[in-house]
Amino acid sequence: MSSRRVFLLGGANTQFLGKGNPDYIWKNHPDFGKRENPGIEELLRAAVNETFSKLGADPEAVERGYVGNFVGELFCQQGHLGAALAGSHPALVNKPMTRTEGACASGGLALACAVDAIKAGCDVVLAAGVEVQTNESARVGADYLARASHYRRQRSIDDFTFPALFGRRTKVYREAFGVSEEEIGHVAVKAYANANKNPLAHMRARRMDLDTASGASEKNPTFLQNAEFASYIKMSDCSQVSDGASAAIIVSADGLRRLGKSEADAIEILAIGHSTASLYDDGDLSQLWTTRDAAGKCYAAAGIGARDVQVAEVHDCFTVTELLMYEALGFCEPGQGGKLAASGATRIDGRIPVNTGGGLIGFGHPVGATGVKQAVEIWRQMKGKCGDYQVTSLPSVGLTANMGGDDRTVLVTAYRNAG
Ligand code: CAA
Repeated sequence: MSSRRVFLLGGANTQFLGKGNPDYIWKNHPDFGKRENPGIEELLRAAVNETFSKLGADPEAVERGYVGNFVGELFCQQGHLGAALAGSHPALVNKPMTRTEGACASGGLALACAVDAIKAGCDVVLAAGVEVQTNESARVGADYLARASHYRRQRSIDDFTFPALFGRRTKVYREAFGVSEEEIGHVAVKAYANANKNPLAHMRARRMDLDTASGASEKNPTFLQNAEFASYIKMSDCSQVSDGASAAIIVSADGLRRLGKSEADAIEILAIGHSTASLYDDGDLSQLWTTRDAAGKCYAAAGIGARDVQVAEVHDCFTVTELLMYEALGFCEPGQGGKLAASGATRIDGRIPVNTGGGLIGFGHPVGATGVKQAVEIWRQMKGKCGDYQVTSLPSVGLTANMGGDDRTVLVTAYRNAG
């Protein structure tokens, strides 16, 4: 294993847009018919260019790049996104640019490839992610996203395959540990409250209270046709169908110097734990075993434990997933995630703030961008750049956990504030 140190110099997220956001253009928007929502090209270019300009980093210094994207071919009829990344800035043309795909962990894979490139001898590498999903209805989009499951076997669980797969997990989890719907509801309340403080969040203008999040109602309906799992997933339990992009610059110690920066400008990437489970077996659904495995690898390689983590971004594709993540990452014992959420410990002012910008439920989930966005958010928290949702004292250790499919591809990454 290379002993080269790896740093995240910083990055940028675009606004995450979709239904429910006042800036998203659809039928009732005053600009409907006059202008369109940004596509893959505009979003990726915006995230990349803002990264260079905000960090004051010379784009010519980039030696290679990776872009996470899951299903550009299906939502946008656009593949070959390595070349789209090269097209995002003139200085990137003719450099090696590669797309990474691992379902909703596609962005995490872009980051992992960038880290590997630094370990292998590069000094300045770009990691980006992008997804556009709102040009189809949620029902059609659900079929595209179902490609992240074992499609032949699992597609038929429901038109909304992933909500149903996590409805199934919610049922198993609640029955195994006696977790209440209200305890799970705390995750949605926190996600929306944090998003309400984040100008880039998809759900920045939508409110959520515990009463609404704790039971189905006209305002917060269930929507699955699968009778066994329908009552376990309401609208408020779901991550958003969002468009957005994120980008970040990963550097070696020499790369920092080359860009005229110091360790104090960056955060160090201590380790990545990367685990992949078989697509073909579901196993015990009461815990996220692949996430647990990836976390164990990450902690061991970073020389830290769960109790050292002071801020985290975890993959809350559904409310139950955030609770399962707390447990798999060792923030609490199995079955105790609901109690941890209800205690307020994971709120911005809590002992271990989680998903401070709103997570996938509040900030949004443009799937290929999510893994990169998580890293950018940890960097922003550690460097005091989160404005209204900044934690009070700057964290020295942070963690991200990005998941593809139903706990199939998982990347857990540990960061230390370098200055
Ligand atoms: N009462 C009853 N039913 C209602 C309703 C109401 N008031 N309102 C809506 N519905 C039903 C309808 O059946 C509707 O479908 P049709 O319009 O096609 O009949 C369905 O709910 C969806 O309604 P909308 O299209 O109006 O809802 P929306 O656009 O606001 O979407 C959502 C809401 C379905 C929850 C959507 O946000 C969603 O699908 N979220 C999850 C996205 C997802 O699965 N992402 C992937 C996560 S998994 C992961 O991260 C890992 C990986 O690798 C994939």
